[in-house]
Amino acid sequence: MILLGIESSCDETGVAVVRDGKVLVDLVSSQVDVHTEYGGVVPEFASRMQLEAIGPLTDRACRDAGIRLSQIDGIAVTSGPGLIGSVLVGMNFAKGLAYSLDKPLIAVDHVRAHLFSPLIEHGGLAFPYIGLVVSGGHTELYTVKSMTDVLLEGKTIDDAAGEAYDKVAGALGLGYPGGPVMDRLAAQGAERRGVKFPMAMMRRGNYDFSFSGLKTAVMRYIKEHSSGLTHGTVSSIAVGFQDAVTGVLVKKTIALARQRRIRRIAVSGGVAANTGLRKMLAAYRDEFEMYIPSSRLCTDNGSMIGFLGYRLFELGIQSDMDTDAYANNTHVPQRARAAAS
Ligand code: KG4
Ligand code: ZN
Repeated sequence: MILLGIESSCDETGVAVVRDGKVLVDLVSSQVDVHTEYGGVVPEFASRMQLEAIGPLTDRACRDAGIRLSQIDGIAVTSGPGLIGSVLVGMNFAKGLAYSLDKPLIAVDHVRAHLFSPLIEHGGLAFPYIGLVVSGGHTELYTVKSMTDVLLEGKTIDDAAGEAYDKVAGALGLGYPGGPVMDRLAAQGAERRGVKFPMAMMRRGNYDFSFSGLKTAVMRYIKEHSSGLTHGTVSSIAVGFQDAVTGVLVKKTIALARQRRIRRIAVSGGVAANTGLRKMLAAYRDEFEMYIPSSRLCTDNGSMIGFLGYRLFELGIQSDMDTDAYANNTHVPQRARAAAS
């Protein structure tokens, strides 16, 4: 079975061709250069550029996979959460394709796609596992029992981890997105003692996250040192900030896994590309099996949509043409739909 996987929830357009759950082609068209100029994603630009990219990218994905559009058996697409204008571009494009080709449409939740993305490269990852999704829009901790049975154990009560990276990097004049550049600076400055920043919500048994206090502490530090912001100071800030973010993420994930007595941990989403986070998690390899996708599959992509779409379709889940796009993740995804279908 050949599925198209279409992702357009934020500033990346991703199209993948997936055969029986295996990725044949994965293309991403990034808008980073445009948004860098504005220090963050401008929603109106994002959706307009999605619209320009999605058709040609789909043509190229089919060409690269050596197939014609008519050979596709179904279309999986992100239905949310995300910037609503951007999500709608992918949804409407996918609906148009599904209707004209008379093939099934499979609406996929973006966070669930991240959550299950470690399975793409690690077929041996068995249930149950503890799943941490850390991206620009989400910081969520789950117990994953099956493809359709997922328990939310904790989430950020304010900023997402990636959002904190982006905001702090913006305040330091390092551009957008902030994660990769802060990661590089922290790695280069690994020898220095980082500035000590606070870690929030460290009470035992609490699996929620908060990054806005940390962000404010960094902003205050930057303001206090604005007259002498040398490369060395910026580097110490990056080291301290990264230690605080990754420290909280790892401590809570490990604590939950121990409490639930689950030995498998999977980490995904853009921030999972972070080298400091990967290194810190690796220190627990004797106690836990760690599953982290390669960097390319951590940030937004069509493969994770096509992959989850395939696994849902196998379970008999598909979507009606009147399925709505949604902006936030109060929406209850796949399980409810499976029960309803
Ligand atoms: O998953 P993703 O592509 O989009 C969302 O669903 O949000 O994640 C993007 C986020 C951005 O905030 C970006 O700064 C962050 O992931 N990111 C990183 C790294 N690479 C990307 N954060 C920390 N370290 C990195 N190496
Ligand atoms: Zn994402």
